[in-house]
Amino acid sequence: MQRTNRQWVLNSRPKGTLSADNFALKEAPMPEPDYAAGRVLVKNLWIGYDAAMRGWMSLKPSYMPPVELGDPMRSFNVAQVVKSKNPELPEGTLLLGMYGWQEYAAVAATDMVPYRKLNRFITPEMALGVLGGSSTTAFWGLMDIGQPKKGETVVVSGAAGATGSVAAQIAKLKGCKVIGIAGGED
Ligand SMILES: NC(=O)c1ccc[n+]([C@@H]2O[C@H](COP(=O)([O-])OP(=O)(O)OC[C@H]3O[C@@H](n4cnc5c(N)ncnc54)[C@H](OP(=O)(O)O)[C@@H]3O)[C@@H](O)[C@H]2O)c1
Repeated sequence: MQRTNRQWVLNSRPKGTLSADNFALKEAPMPEPDYAAGRVLVKNLWIGYDAAMRGWMSLKPSYMPPVELGDPMRSFNVAQVVKSKNPELPEGTLLLGMYGWQEYAAVAATDMVPYRKLNRFITPEMALGVLGGSSTTAFWGLMDIGQPKKGETVVVSGAAGATGSVAAQIAKLKGCKVIGIAGGED
């Protein structure tokens, strides 16, 4: 097992569009989870990139605290348990969670965003994509708040994006006429 944990940390808060110097590569000590307390060590295999991440880099009040300067950039990840004494999370288990831009992370059931286990029907791409945060936002936003009914017209802004494209498909499945607003020629 290696002794350092490479991380891409938030180095400065972007103004407008991101630039490479908003991030810095850092070598941190390996996480040392409290195995006796059920915590486990995971290795990140996949990193998700979501529009919401731009918001987490700013100090604007939000549904989540901002990423601190010097901390690994926050992200959804698919990670694999590589060291564990927790029978609920044996080594090899794939988890969806928020483990950031780093190689390894310590995971606890009490994390701000609790982990979800992947099963054999859910690939990492599905967990970070169509079953991930953007799509669940589209699902709950439309179904819970919008409550679409057959025959209604649903207008979706940002319809070419991860969230909008799923909202549009759900509205179609509910029998609505869907008008998508998109900027690009395609
Ligand atoms: N609160 C939550 O839990 C939550 C979860 C998911 C997403 N969101 C929010 O939902 C929004 C969309 O997220 P996403 O993941 O779908 O992003 P995305 O995949 O990057 O899609 C964004 C879409 O917005 C359009 N767009 C970009 N800049 C624009 C501009 N200046 N004016 C008009 N349209 C523009 C683009 O459309 P064209 O390609 O047509 O130009 C792009 O396809 C973001 O604001 C995100 O933060 C919130």
